[in-house]
Amino acid sequence: MDEDLVCQNFLVLPSDANSHGTLFGGRLLASLDITSAIAGMRLARGPVVTASMDKVDFKIPVHIGDIVTIKAKVIRIGRTSMQIKAEAFGFKQSGEEIGLICSAFITMVAVDKNGKPREILKNNK
Ligand SMILES: CC(C)(COP(=O)(O)OP(=O)(O)OC[C@H]1O[C@@H](n2cnc3c(N)ncnc32)[C@H](O)[C@@H]1OP(=O)(O)O)[C@@H](O)C(=O)NCCC(=O)NCCS
Repeated sequence: MDEDLVCQNFLVLPSDANSHGTLFGGRLLASLDITSAIAGMRLARGPVVTASMDKVDFKIPVHIGDIVTIKAKVIRIGRTSMQIKAEAFGFKQSGEEIGLICSAFITMVAVDKNGKPREILKNNK
């Protein structure tokens, strides 16, 4: 297993849906953000904040009762920031893959206890 890959699964509940009965984009973005933050925290060995979300693409809708798997991985390390690629895949309860439902590039910044950017030690990776 890829140690740098952070994964999260959730079942799409009625409270996650929009008025079309499909997964609300904001709900998905929150999960992409959290999964990416965990990838960033692990690498930076401490707190991070979200600086930006770029190139967010919603590709396929998923419905109530479907299962979403999110995968996030740090793909670039700066002085205090990291770029993370986050992807969400949809699955039917039978296990059948629906496909890539959303992808984004998220920048996380390591911060100190005052919320100021903190240098990431390069030997962390
Ligand atoms: C992110 C934040 C800490 C950056 O602080 P700052 O004083 O502007 O920091 P700097 O200009 O020194 O930039 C620090 C790093 O962040 C990167 N960065 C800052 N803003 C960025 C943006 N919008 N997009 C991409 N990278 C950004 C810089 O390129 C720099 O990277 P590097 O050190 O790897 O070269 C600050 O803007 C902040 O606290 N924002 C609010 C975060 C937040 O509340 N997020 C939502 C909840 S988690």
